[in-house]
Amino acid sequence: AQQALSGVAMELGDCAFPLLREIVCTDNLSVGFKDVQAALLVGAKPRSKGMERGDLLQENAKIFIPQGRALNDYAHRDVRTLIVGNPANTNCLIAATHAKDLPKENFAAMTRLDHDRAVWQVAEKTGSPVPSVQKVVVWGNHSPTMFPDLTWATVNGRPALDLVGQDWYTKTFIPRVQKRGAEIIEARGLSSAASAGNAALAHMRSWLLGHTHDWVSFGGWSNGNQYGVPEGLYYSFPVTIQNKQWSIVNGLNITPEQRQRMTHTANELLEERKAIESLLKV
Ligand code: LMR
Repeated sequence: AQQALSGVAMELGDCAFPLLREIVCTDNLSVGFKDVQAALLVGAKPRSKGMERGDLLQENAKIFIPQGRALNDYAHRDVRTLIVGNPANTNCLIAATHAKDLPKENFAAMTRLDHDRAVWQVAEKTGSPVPSVQKVVVWGNHSPTMFPDLTWATVNGRPALDLVGQDWYTKTFIPRVQKRGAEIIEARGLSSAASAGNAALAHMRSWLLGHTHDWVSFGGWSNGNQYGVPEGLYYSFPVTIQNKQWSIVNGLNITPEQRQRMTHTANELLEERKAIESLLKV
């Protein structure tokens, strides 16, 4: 992978990010994670055509144990870690568990990509500018069980559901967002790349610089007290972010239909957790 890494380094440099000072290419975890304040864990075996994320659970789990330990041992104590590699939510659980001295809240699984996909679907359907679409929510797992929810979404302040219609919402929007990753793999023969990279940057930017002007979906630690989601999962919630702390949007009224979809995706995460239980022993 070192050869490919040198190409990644070239591209990173060529982005000319204003804060970029130096690039260190290494396969040594103690060097790579030293004093890191923002970690993006993108390295996972990618899903190929016909594969579901669950197939990758065991294999990828082994990558995230040493990375979690390395974060624990070498990273800055305030590090924020985003897990992008699939199955992201469960990989996040593994990494966070093995970073035993770091707060669970400082780890997140990326569902910003699903959030942005949902926003785009609504913007395109209504012919509206992207920033006019607000209060979109993605609940649960970054997998086809996720629940992209437009209950509170607005377009230029008007209820999105009134504009797009219930039929399009349930028959087109929900399944399209749920399966967008597979749709891209089908078209490209490869997993999403540019949109995933963009979502990772957007996620980190929101986390570090704040996100109070709108809700954003965030695969965060569930403490068991929010919206009936079982404790000890990385589950996507609607959040706002201030001073590098994310808070779940409170007080949303959940209908039985929403509850059913939210539970369905939580159950999948419980199953994934059960499948890698032995890897959670620290
Ligand atoms: C995506 O949502 O585009 C990816 O997570 C798909 C995948 O499994 O690689």
